[in-house]
Amino acid sequence: MTIKLSDLDKLQLLRGASDEALFAEADRIRREVYGDAVYLRGLIEFTNYCRNDCYYCGIRKGNRNLSRYRLDKETILGCCREGYGLGYRTFVLQGGEDPYFADAPHGGAVSDGDRRLCDIVASIHEEFPDCAITLSVGERSRESYQRLFEAGARRYLLRHEAASGELYRTLHPAEMSIENRKRCLYDLKDIGYQVGAGLMVGAPGQTLTHLLDDLHFMEDLKPDMIGIGPYLRHADTPLGKSSAACAQGLDKEEKLKLTLRLLAVLRIMFPYALIPSTTALGTIDPNGRELGLKAGANVVMPNLSPAEVREQYELYDNKICTGEESAQCRSCLEQRVMSAGYRIVTDIGDVKHE
Ligand code: 5AD
Ligand code: FES
Repeated sequence: MTIKLSDLDKLQLLRGASDEALFAEADRIRREVYGDAVYLRGLIEFTNYCRNDCYYCGIRKGNRNLSRYRLDKETILGCCREGYGLGYRTFVLQGGEDPYFADAPHGGAVSDGDRRLCDIVASIHEEFPDCAITLSVGERSRESYQRLFEAGARRYLLRHEAASGELYRTLHPAEMSIENRKRCLYDLKDIGYQVGAGLMVGAPGQTLTHLLDDLHFMEDLKPDMIGIGPYLRHADTPLGKSSAACAQGLDKEEKLKLTLRLLAVLRIMFPYALIPSTTALGTIDPNGRELGLKAGANVVMPNLSPAEVREQYELYDNKICTGEESAQCRSCLEQRVMSAGYRIVTDIGDVKHE
């Protein structure tokens, strides 16, 4: 059933050679594997502190125009309780690389940060044994990933951002490297996590050849989950400032289209993957998440963070869902999933394999 795409096929599809056939094929494949199911993941953005300075990201440490927050364990458990009541069986704990939760600098030893994060994971696992815990907290040592797995985490989202070293370096400061990112992803996989990779479409400087590099990398990694969304500028970031100054890159419409095409190509290449229709898609176009589902996405991640802190987790300008309560996001998304012709499923939703 898996269709092999050559590099030339991929390029032509991304250029829009046959959109209608592409989306129809992606939808056919997703229905063959997952039917009309769309899985729900409750997103808890539990800290916006970050030690990194990625040039595109609104919560980068260099952004002084942001007030920082960190949710304590009880608040996080409260979000999970609310989510459980709304039908969620997966909780995604996402945050910046907060020094308070950091692992030991050279791996090995258990750090205070490890203990704190493991304690949160273990407490969620104990209270909600029928739920999956997904972490999205950046680069750590293999030992630290192992401890978090033992505490109960089973899935990990870490977008690789750009498989090409050349592009990666234009998006990140010198302390960060694609080599370490890849090391993390392979370690996570080896430990036994379901692993998510991904990237931003239309990032400044990104070409279709870079996207081919991303696809090659993912062919090798074989991620269980793939998160992609359009790059959106944030005014308080180096790339947000420079892209405003020189109006560089794709416009909104082109970015939306390219994201949808890439979603469809990913569905065809990875029939079994869990692929979210992301908040960034919903931000670039009011109908973006519905279009994402029709292009092959099969996951939605409504926000479960406390309403008071949502605005402070602004990765990019005009992020949606910052004014809503958790229950509103849940019913809003249910409505959108139905209107696109699919059905929300509230079970744990593990990845299916061939
Ligand atoms: N535009 C779109 N996506 C962004 N992310 C971070 N900053 C931006 C931005 N300006 C994405 C990154 C990260 C994920 C959590 O959010 O890909 O991995
Ligand atoms: Fe949050 Fe629509 S998903 S308001």
